Amino acid sequence: MIEGSKTGKTNPIVTYGMVGGGEGAFIGDVHRHAIAFDGKARLVAGSFSRSMSKTLSTGEELHIDKDRLYETYAEMAAAEAARDDGIDFVAVVTPNASHYAISKAFLEKGINVVCDKPLTTDSGQAEELAELAKKNNLLFAVTYTYSGYPTVKHARAMIAAGEIGDIRFVNAEYPQEWLAEKLEDSGQKQASWRSDPAQSGISNCVGDIGSHIENTVSYMTGLKIKRLSARLDTFVENRILDDNATIMLDYEGGAKGVYWSSQIAVGHDNGLAVRVYGSKGSIRWRQEDPNYLEVAFLDKPAMKISRGRDTLKYRAESLVRVPAGHPEGYFEAFANIYKTYIDALVKKASGAELTEDDLDFPTPEAGATGVKFIEKCVESSKKDAAWLEF
Ligand SMILES: NC(=O)c1ccc[n+]([C@@H]2O[C@H](COP(=O)([O-])OP(=O)(O)OC[C@H]3O[C@@H](n4cnc5c(N)ncnc54)[C@H](O)[C@@H]3O)[C@@H](O)[C@H]2O)c1
Repeated sequence: MIEGSKTGKTNPIVTYGMVGGGEGAFIGDVHRHAIAFDGKARLVAGSFSRSMSKTLSTGEELHIDKDRLYETYAEMAAAEAARDDGIDFVAVVTPNASHYAISKAFLEKGINVVCDKPLTTDSGQAEELAELAKKNNLLFAVTYTYSGYPTVKHARAMIAAGEIGDIRFVNAEYPQEWLAEKLEDSGQKQASWRSDPAQSGISNCVGDIGSHIENTVSYMTGLKIKRLSARLDTFVENRILDDNATIMLDYEGGAKGVYWSSQIAVGHDNGLAVRVYGSKGSIRWRQEDPNYLEVAFLDKPAMKISRGRDTLKYRAESLVRVPAGHPEGYFEAFANIYKTYIDALVKKASGAELTEDDLDFPTPEAGATGVKFIEKCVESSKKDAAWLEF
């Protein structure tokens, strides 16, 4: 229950719980920091691990009351739904294959959900979650991080306004080095589950980072995929899933694109880059230098738009936190998604109508498209990179 939302308080207290994100986990901690950025929600419950002793130790570290630490997510969903002061939303930050069951358990109990990507390992299940959220009148966000950057939002607004003309070509890539060797054999937690189909799903590289390319391009450009042809490679010997992928795309309306995602690209950290070429100009964005957008117009010198110095369009300006030259990055992008989502929860609880801007966070429908993208890439690759309608 969002305290104060119906009593006219301007800053009501929102509470949340977390499933996953125990000791040694990666993204759960990022979510907690991102939520804390704006002080709009408080962590009060958790099932941080499949091991109760780890849940207890993580809970103690995070100052959570023992009676709100749960052995399983199902127990947590039931108990929190039954409390008068139950959580307002849950953050699901477990490996991919458990997202569906966990999200469903909370939605069925009437609890709002934020789930990390990819939304599920099956597009039918992702669509089911989207429908369930709608049916139960709940807000659901999927944390596709890169849609949270002000510069990405500015690019989206420029493209929507037709400033670079009709989009002709998109070239996007997400190269990483970290799986260039068989790291999963060392027992490294994040590599182990990502390379295991039972936890990761049918793809590793496309599922883990190709999905970020798909969402970032789609958010930035509004383009819809018409058909695609994909080749997934497994370069590291005896690895079960893909570690590199090349994808060609045709979009509705005639634009074309090429995506490359790779975890064997020696020398690259998190090199997500999106380049959009239109009939009148182009826009380039790199997540390792995310405070700037490179923009060029025909017959004019190329320029660099700076977050914090130049006026940004759409909601981007309102999400800028520090002046130009003080870099903002990954945490802030996550925080922007949460800020928008939590503001929407509070506004909805007050009975006010939510606008399109209020709902500017990645939806479960976008999550379902992302899962379908992974499925189509795997299917195409199995058919020797056959072109498949999307
Ligand atoms: N948005 C992004 O930029 C981004 C970045 C990294 C990871 N992710 C996504 O976040 C998810 C987690 O990835 P990670 O790298 O943090 O993994 P991780 O292995 O570091 O953490 C997973 C955590 O979930 C816990 N867990 C597993 N099953 C559980 C269950 N049934 N109940 C309670 N806890 C459970 C594990 O004990 C662990 O603490 C994945 O879906 C991944 O794709 C997203």
